[in-house]
Amino acid sequence: MTQDYSRAVQLLQAGELVAFPTETVYGLGADAANPEAVAKIFAAKGRPADHPLIVHLPGAAHLDRWARDIPAVAWELAEAFWPGPLTLILKRAPEVPYAVTGGQETVGVRVPAHPIALDLLRAYAQAGGGQNGLCGIAAPSANRFGRISPTDAAHVHEELGDAVALVLDGGPCTVGIESTIIDLSRDDGFPPGLLRPGHITPEQIEDVIGVLPELPEERQDSNTPRVSGSLDAHYAPLTPMRVVATAQLPDVLRSLKENGKCLGLLAHTRQPGLVPLHALRQLPDEPEGYARGLYAALRELDQAGNDLIVVEDISREPGWAAIADRLRRAACGSGVS
Ligand code: TXA
Ligand code: MG
Repeated sequence: MTQDYSRAVQLLQAGELVAFPTETVYGLGADAANPEAVAKIFAAKGRPADHPLIVHLPGAAHLDRWARDIPAVAWELAEAFWPGPLTLILKRAPEVPYAVTGGQETVGVRVPAHPIALDLLRAYAQAGGGQNGLCGIAAPSANRFGRISPTDAAHVHEELGDAVALVLDGGPCTVGIESTIIDLSRDDGFPPGLLRPGHITPEQIEDVIGVLPELPEERQDSNTPRVSGSLDAHYAPLTPMRVVATAQLPDVLRSLKENGKCLGLLAHTRQPGLVPLHALRQLPDEPEGYARGLYAALRELDQAGNDLIVVEDISREPGWAAIADRLRRAACGSGVS
């Protein structure tokens, strides 16, 4: 693996792409200070160039090079949750290229908790980092635009093939869904906004800074940063997908089957007595285990030749909020090739 780190660092410094595991999902990385390298990310993903990317840092000590007017609450959150699955949106420092911020005056930053991501970032910093000596790796999820995020190295190969020079393999991701994004780019960081729900909950944020972040619907004004994960259609299988309440599953599945549909089911409670299904994936009936397995299960059901993926609806409890968000967007973007 040591060998891989030095090769990965060389590739990044040469402006090439390197995919790597984080605790959330695999990222498709490039030197965040090099606009030409960043352009390769957009090309490989088929992603519109005005979508901003998250910059991954080796530690909070690097924050000053990437952001300016950093509010006290940002340092408090960094101290509490980094390394970890929390992205902070801050005012952009002058050196940060617009290529990485999608042309905006804000930048998204996080310190990932995965040992391979951290070792890579530290090796990169030790080798002098990228352009202008800046040590940030820009990395969106390593999937084609709008599709299911990769939580295993094999998924990255499936998504991007030869478009990526090197994939560091860290096995399956432990969190399984993307980081929580908090907008602190207003003056003094207040009021903070939740741009994308994730493993770290609004209540955990409140415990640290004393304020519950505003939800996206409370925050619609022209200053709100754009978040591609907030597009209605995202994280989506090519196969049409529909969320069905647990109580309705037997009837809905029977009538779909009678109509000749080849069905895949993603369930989290035991479902005795259902019609025979073409494919069944069972996830744990608690949010952490469910999130960890969600994208791999959707990917498998998507590849199993189903006409429709039926997803058993989940709890409305706050602990399931980030999963509810991903399922809604996946259903919305599904079935479009
Ligand atoms: O867990 C994660 O965050 C993963 C891993 C690889 O770190 N990354 C990830 O990246 O999910 P991506 O590009 O798929 O999603 C990044 C999100 C997008 O919704 C993007 O719009 C938002 O972060 N974002 C990045 N910079 C931003 C900015 N300056 N303002 C608003 N949103 C920003
Ligand atoms: Mg993504």
